[in-house]
Amino acid sequence: MDFIRDYADWFYLIGAVLFILTLRGLSGPKTAIAGNRYGMIAMAIAVLTTFFVAENPVVWMIVGAMVLGAIIGIARARTVPMTQMPETVALMHSLVGLAAVLIAVAAIIHNNELAKLDVGLLQENGVNFHEMGKVHLFELFVGCFVGAITFTASVFAYGKLAAKKWAKTISGTWVKPVQALIFIAMFAAGIHFFLTGNMTSFWAMTGLALVFGWVWIAPVGGGDMPVVVSLLNSFSGWAAAGIGFTLENNMLIVAGSLVGSSGAILSYIMCKAMNRSIINVLFGGAMGGTAVAVEAGDKAPRNHRSGSADDAGFLMSNADSVVIVPGYGMAQGRAQNAVKELANLLKEQGVTVRFAIHPVAGRMPGHMNVLLAEADVPYEDILEMDEINSDFPATDVVLVIGANDVVNPAAKDDPSSPIYGMPILEAHKARTIMVIKRSMATGYAGLDNDLFYNDKTMMIFGDAKKVVEDMTKAINGNGH
Ligand code: TAP
Repeated sequence: MDFIRDYADWFYLIGAVLFILTLRGLSGPKTAIAGNRYGMIAMAIAVLTTFFVAENPVVWMIVGAMVLGAIIGIARARTVPMTQMPETVALMHSLVGLAAVLIAVAAIIHNNELAKLDVGLLQENGVNFHEMGKVHLFELFVGCFVGAITFTASVFAYGKLAAKKWAKTISGTWVKPVQALIFIAMFAAGIHFFLTGNMTSFWAMTGLALVFGWVWIAPVGGGDMPVVVSLLNSFSGWAAAGIGFTLENNMLIVAGSLVGSSGAILSYIMCKAMNRSIINVLFGGAMGGTAVAVEAGDKAPRNHRSGSADDAGFLMSNADSVVIVPGYGMAQGRAQNAVKELANLLKEQGVTVRFAIHPVAGRMPGHMNVLLAEADVPYEDILEMDEINSDFPATDVVLVIGANDVVNPAAKDDPSSPIYGMPILEAHKARTIMVIKRSMATGYAGLDNDLFYNDKTMMIFGDAKKVVEDMTKAINGNGH
């Protein structure tokens, strides 16, 4: 025990290095499993070391909370469907935010008690209590308000992604002034607390930060939610780092900063992938699904061509190259294993088959990569948008499976479209386009898609899994 206490900083250093290796591992599908393992070992080292470093830990309370958390976590991890991962992640961020607030509150109350007792003693020993107190108050101020905003904003993001009735997008000219007022009041209360240590100001700041988190995220609509979730991930990291300062725990400062900075980088990458600026996402309140859907509904009906799984199977088995573009519908229909079988069958027939992944296909970063990895699709067959886009004109068949916004040519051709400027997979440039979906309904951004009305496009209506299985049967039956 003493050994761990004496060398605590070394253990923390090992933990920090392992956390860095975790992030490095998680940056690619091939190394992700190793990355996860590093993360588990790092967390175990961090928790155990902290346990031994703590003075008079209330063992039953800590172990009890960990066991309870582990039971809930394992049960949730085993049952959550892949399609509900984004809201689950948002909910987990909210807990980090809540933890930051509760720790700040506990530390403030504790600090106040100490201050009453110790001021005299500290002064006798020549310590300037006010200076020491201010640094501490600043850490608490930052940790608490970032935590409070993260908490309510993440709860809203959870509600929005899980389509809960209470998580309604708000809009109107009043929104921005109200946001600004709450923010200024929150900041003023925080500064007053920082300067005076006044508890009423602390409670006011915390309450206002909780309200601000909600009104800040509530106007953000549809297609921008992924960036918000990733940004909240970053916030939860900074809140944890803030708690680390409060608790004087180096491990928490490092781990929180890693989460904070990697989340910020991911938000930046996603903004680039959606051609949005972070300021525009957070304060623009544009791209709301409803407004766009109305616009789509105003248009006159247009003609499209549809075909059967048999026709599609025949065409693909006679092609030289097929590119499969998966989207949210593949996840929704749990079609990944059927898709892998179809790809294998086509390969056996001498067709070159590759998968094209858009950075925001699906509902969370890496959604499609995870599903394809689950189905054991070889990594070398999976190409990112920048790698595959120039190959579409020379591709015989592109098979779009439950993707919509990420192949919408309006992003390139229509300056009036809300997604104009967003990079897309240029499926419209392929020689033949096949699209599997259940209807002509719009995708996440609520926009009509010209690709479906293209002369080269054949729509194959039905559930993704069923249609893909029928295609495989057709190819097998044809004996090609
Ligand atoms: P979407 O644009 O959402 O389109 C998915 C399509 O799949 C729908 O048009 C739907 O049409 C079809 N579909 C749904 N269930 C299906 C099933 N069981 N079988 C067959 N088709 C089915 O998807 P996308 O192209 O992947 O684009 C992702 C969108 O989500 C983007 O707008 C992105 O900004 C947003 N978003 C992304 C993320 C991240 S980080 N990836 C997170 C949140 C939001 P039918 O109803 O007609 O079948």
